[in-house]
Amino acid sequence: MNIKLKNDTSFAALDNRSILESARQAGIVLEHSCRTGRCGVCKVKVISGETDVIQAEESLRVEDEANGFILTCCRAVKTDLQLDIGDLGELGSIQTKTLPCRIDSLQPLSDDVVEVVLRTPPTSRLEYLPGQYVDMIGKDGLRRSYSVANAPREDGKITLQIRKVEQGKMSQYWFEDAKANDLLRMEGPLGTFCLRKSNAKQLILLATGTGIAPIKAILEQLSTTPVVNTYNHIHLYWGGRIEQDIYWQPVFESLPLTFTPVLSRTPEWQGRKGYIQDAVIDDSHDLRDAVVYACGSEAMIHSAHEQLVAAGLNSEHFYADAFVSSN
Ligand code: FES
Repeated sequence: MNIKLKNDTSFAALDNRSILESARQAGIVLEHSCRTGRCGVCKVKVISGETDVIQAEESLRVEDEANGFILTCCRAVKTDLQLDIGDLGELGSIQTKTLPCRIDSLQPLSDDVVEVVLRTPPTSRLEYLPGQYVDMIGKDGLRRSYSVANAPREDGKITLQIRKVEQGKMSQYWFEDAKANDLLRMEGPLGTFCLRKSNAKQLILLATGTGIAPIKAILEQLSTTPVVNTYNHIHLYWGGRIEQDIYWQPVFESLPLTFTPVLSRTPEWQGRKGYIQDAVIDDSHDLRDAVVYACGSEAMIHSAHEQLVAAGLNSEHFYADAFVSSN
């Protein structure tokens, strides 16, 4: 069976595999993030054809389903299919691979966040776009997803910022057992959270917690590749609960960057308080001329999308990568 996209690209559907996976096997990348039905990034409208649910579509609202939307990570095809979505051309040229890697260093960034630097063999480096993530594969095949926190470096090293998850199996490894030179495997790059071409003059970056990691990678890309930075203003909002959640200071002298840390559980904080989406609204940016990239909790992403679109942002100018945690 065949799946056709709106830019006339088509590919073969694999039996009992998700549409997203069939596309990937054909070297075609569709918009996605979690691949588990929880973030909603892969939502698309079916123009014609039928599909089967093979994984629960947790983030698909009843009204979306009634209007013909599906999640491509959760459905296999039943008949030939036509979807109202194009592929993400250049991303398809970067292949997802599984690579061996070793821990180069480990360093605490706060009480519950550790920075892990990984090195891959010089012959098999990870090729990726800033903003994408990798799956780390530990003992017994346990795997967890982490955004890469740096733009590609000359030495090929990859930095992750890992938050402690109470009772988390992989967390236990990172915070108690991991040591320099440990051998691990990573699969990547994954996800489609990366800068897109835009005519907008304002770039608004939103992060909560370790959602700052891919945003940091994107800022590094903007600062080292001036041709990519077509924005007059870049506004970064980073939300945490307490002061130590803001464990990194963005210093990019070449960028027109304004940084606003926002704390939600520190009444004595002298800076901005509350939630980042409210802070963006309070700052009255002209959202009609903005593009927004948001990474962090599902709650922030849903509420930011709703509030910013209501305040004038074009819904298609909102890109998100939701962190869905697992134990
Ligand atoms: S819901 Fe499909 S990629 Fe997240």
